Amino acid sequence: MEEAKIPTDTSEHGTLPQRESALVGKRVVLGISGGIAAYKAAELVRLLRKAGATVQVVMTKAAQAFITPLTLQTLSGRKVATELFDLTQESEIGHISIADSADLLMIAPATADVLAKLSLGLADDLLSTVALASAAPLLVCPAMNVNMWNKPQVQHHVAQLAAFGAYIVGPAPGELACGWVGPGRMVEPAEIVASTESILSAQQRKDLRGRWVVITAGPTYEPLDPVRFIGNRSSGKMGFALAADAAARGAEVTLIAGPVALDTPPGVHRTNVESAKEMAQAVLPLLDRSRPPDCVVMAAAVADYRPSEVATRKRKKHELGQSPAIALTENPDILRSLGQKRGKSATLLVGFAAETHDVEAYARRKLTEKGCDVIIANNVAEDGSGFGTDTNRVTILTRREEGSVEVVPLPLLSKAAVSDKIWSHLLSLLPAQPKG
Ligand code: C5P
Repeated sequence: MEEAKIPTDTSEHGTLPQRESALVGKRVVLGISGGIAAYKAAELVRLLRKAGATVQVVMTKAAQAFITPLTLQTLSGRKVATELFDLTQESEIGHISIADSADLLMIAPATADVLAKLSLGLADDLLSTVALASAAPLLVCPAMNVNMWNKPQVQHHVAQLAAFGAYIVGPAPGELACGWVGPGRMVEPAEIVASTESILSAQQRKDLRGRWVVITAGPTYEPLDPVRFIGNRSSGKMGFALAADAAARGAEVTLIAGPVALDTPPGVHRTNVESAKEMAQAVLPLLDRSRPPDCVVMAAAVADYRPSEVATRKRKKHELGQSPAIALTENPDILRSLGQKRGKSATLLVGFAAETHDVEAYARRKLTEKGCDVIIANNVAEDGSGFGTDTNRVTILTRREEGSVEVVPLPLLSKAAVSDKIWSHLLSLLPAQPKG
């Protein structure tokens, strides 16, 4: 893996800072299912062990058609588990002890069949049973033909798994073994190892303990009358993933949510709002507290304008005429107000920039105009990125000394994995903790 340095040159694209491997002494249970990418599991085992983990391999029957248990046994240095109902295997390395021993369960490659099983909670072979019995974090690396990946059934199962808290990494786009081109390749083993390190280090460190973070999420609805509103397509998934992750890392989390259909993540304090004005009223006073938040992440897609007049009764069609016009008034820009208001407070301000073109240029401009420290930019027009999806491809722009901007593009990842990377990055930028 390349040594990463934080560049200060504005023109240079950077990588996130590296730290000592969180894999040292950890036990990874690696489930391999039956796709051509199974051959890459050999390299994955090698890299996991090199990083200091022990690896217990579990293979499905189909996986053994692509790579032999002997290869993986040799590389992992441990007996490979393949059977649920084999008396010898079950007494030597039973499915519950494999499940209990895992610090992290990784399935790479994960076929469409395995994704469906995991999403439905089926347990008809060793790997699916271990997955169901394990309380360890689950990292899934799908790999399959592009048409298979794009099938609504498969996307539904992936979305379900992400909603259950699984980290989905990949698939990557490119030429597939079947001859098709598109998303379907398993991400490279080195990238899987990097994701594993970041998940484990978050779990192990509770590195946001003692921090108070405020996160906004979802759209805002700007009312026209008691029935209608102007809104946008934000699902709130990215903000909720950030809230879930921050709480899992030990932070006190205040989540200010626009209208979304999502459950509150465990340990998160949630306030529901509808309009931009309500969101501003919920967020801005938090900066006046004697101890202001350590970080405010504005992941919400706040409407820039609201109807100037809100009717108290439903507007009837015959009253509106043939081409009714809606007069709009500009909403308060919450992030900009936070930037102006924070004064001497050390609160770290993070904004999002959802764009359909010239993403980096607009994000750079927002960093300055809104007076924030970090902008997470994404192209919402790109496949698998942005509103409503369970995956996202973002670029993190960070204001560094003397006006330089560090730019770190991330690959396409599940929103849980993106949020993990974002927090790992923000950690180094948070204000110093008060003593005592
Ligand atoms: O200007 P634009 O809406 O693209 O900026 C996006 C960022 O600004 C997001 O972080 C969003 O939450 C924040 N924002 C805000 N108040 C607004 C509009 C956007 O805080 N009225």
